[in-house]
Amino acid sequence: MPPTAEILRPDAPGLARATAVLTGGGRVAFPTETVYGLGADARQGQAVAGIFAAKDRPRFNPLIVHVETVAAARNLVEWSGAADILAQAFWPGPLTLVLPVRPGGGLSELVTAGLPSLAVRVPAHPVARALLGAFGGPVAAPSANPSGRISPTTAAHVLAGLDGRVEAVMDGGACDVGVESTIVGLTGAPVLLRPGGLPAEAVEAALGHPLTRRAATAPLDAPGQMASHYAPGATLRLDATTRQPGELLLGFGATDCDLNLSDTGDLTEAAANLFGHLHTLDRRGAARIAVAPVPQNGLGLAINDRLQRAAAPRPRADSEV
Ligand code: TXA
Ligand code: MG
Repeated sequence: MPPTAEILRPDAPGLARATAVLTGGGRVAFPTETVYGLGADARQGQAVAGIFAAKDRPRFNPLIVHVETVAAARNLVEWSGAADILAQAFWPGPLTLVLPVRPGGGLSELVTAGLPSLAVRVPAHPVARALLGAFGGPVAAPSANPSGRISPTTAAHVLAGLDGRVEAVMDGGACDVGVESTIVGLTGAPVLLRPGGLPAEAVEAALGHPLTRRAATAPLDAPGQMASHYAPGATLRLDATTRQPGELLLGFGATDCDLNLSDTGDLTEAAANLFGHLHTLDRRGAARIAVAPVPQNGLGLAINDRLQRAAAPRPRADSEV
């Protein structure tokens, strides 16, 4: 069946159409270097509400606002010295900063879900940058997947999860980084709220001191950080070294497996392949996916975080996050 959503090329007519959809209060999925986002005008309450509806996302889970420049970010939040260091070092790029929201910034209150802080990010992907530049305003965008499911790293993944719930999809090919942005909270002492596409070690090196790491059992500072998230249809068994009957094995490094995150053991390549490979194995109809151990350093932190959430017991449908 042909998709219901308009598929837009990242050229001038495509950007003009995407901008018109956003201006009209609609939703446009677009590529970032991390994963595809489901974007809407962050200043229009109805448009932002449309994101929550499309994803079946609980209202209390706030969204990341995407802007084209550091200057635009500074208009939305109370800036700080630490923010300046990290923005200089890593923007545009796979880093989201959480800072106190600046009153009068014009954002819909739905974006922050009533929190006094705002998550903001300047993405590096040329198509995301072109769209933000053409639109000229803040774009609220969670990952473009139904709530609680695997994030999309291609336009086809977006359509598989959200067709019929998104007006347009800009096709910019596969995402380079493949896992979501690293989220650093700067409303107090800098804290790692979500490991992601920028290694925590790089953030710590720029700041000159370690980040506070939010314990897995701590209250939900990043409300989306619920145990079960990023779930494929199949169940997952982690740290698997062999395949058990009925399992497909997702490998890492030189190993006999059904699909390999990186046969050379490269964590950057593994991050880029993670969600796509889970989508692929899921489509093969596996009841269970066994996953080889992935080292817990650099991008391995984000990869293991997503794998653990994908493997966690599922909440009931009505408590889905
Ligand atoms: O790479 C990414 O970050 C992608 C692309 C599209 O930019 N976006 C993304 O958004 O992953 P989403 O909505 O799937 O995840 C955003 C996370 C959620 O866990 C949310 O709870 C957290 O950011 N968050 C948003 N605003 C926050 C705030 N004010 N304080 C703490 N956490 C916040
Ligand atoms: Mg998400």
